[in-house]
Parts: sequence; C-alpha cells; structure tokens
Amino acid sequence: MNKNIDYKLLNRQLESLIEHQNNSIGQLSNAAALLKQETGWHWVGFYIVEGDFLRLGPFQGPPACYDIPFGKGVCGKAWSLGSPLLVPDVNEFDGHIACSPLSQSEIVVPILKEGAVVAVLDVDCEEKNGLLVGDMEGLKEFCEILQKHIAF
Ligand code: SME
Repeated sequence: MNKNIDYKLLNRQLESLIEHQNNSIGQLSNAAALLKQETGWHWVGFYIVEGDFLRLGPFQGPPACYDIPFGKGVCGKAWSLGSPLLVPDVNEFDGHIACSPLSQSEIVVPILKEGAVVAVLDVDCEEKNGLLVGDMEGLKEFCEILQKHIAF
C-alpha cells in the first residue's frame, strides 16, 4: 500500500469514533472525515442504496454526482458484484463516472447487511496506481467496522 497508512491504527480509531452511537449520518460523516484526514486522498465517501440507485451520502472532497444507477460506474459495478473493486487507472475502466477530472485511481468497497449491499465506500486518488491491494484490504476491514456499528 502507499503512503504508509497504518490500517490497524486507522481502524481502531474508526471503531472508537463510531461505536456506541445511533446516528448513521453522523457516524458516516465522521468515518469520511477520519479517512480523509489520515489518507489525504482526493475524495472519500459513501453512496447509500435506495431502490435501483446509489445516492450520494456523507463525503469529504469536491462536490460529487448524486445518483448512480445499479451496475453503472465503478460504484454501481461493485454494488452489482457485491465485492470490492480496485481500479488502478480509471481511464482504463469502461463506464467510469468522472465526478472530478483529478481522480486517477479508485477503490469501491460494498457494505453488506444480511447478505445485501446497503451502501458503498468510494475512495479516489489523484495518482494512477495510487491505490493498491493493501489499501483495499485495509478498507475492507474499515467497512466491516462500519457494518458492525451503523444501522443502515
Ligand atoms: N467514479 C465513481 C463515481 C463516484 S465519484 O468518484 C465520487 C464511479 O465511476 O462510480
């Protein structure tokens, strides 16, 4: 992974920040703030499943697209697969939705409750190959903590 992000520490911080709370918007907002602060990535945030769309949720970074249809873009694709996607170069991903021209690599991790995707975590980096498998693994644990403590 890049930037020497200590995912063990990050994920401990996340858990202490969101456990024992019952405000999902507040918890997701603090999760996005923590992730942005600790990584400096261009955009980090959440899209929440509503019907056939992912709808923009709490995030940190430049303004972003509101609604993403099932199967569309990296986010919709990860939703349809129900598994994480690492895109080292977004220009090579057919159907990538460019909310910001500065995003060059991207990871999307679905958050599941009782087997169904309820939201996705999306992170965008300004460098090609700026996000690696180690980051995806760390973010999968990040999402497991969210899943455990947030009532989606
Ligand atoms: N690039 C995403 C859209 C969301 S923004 O990156 C914040 C996609 O292709 O689904």
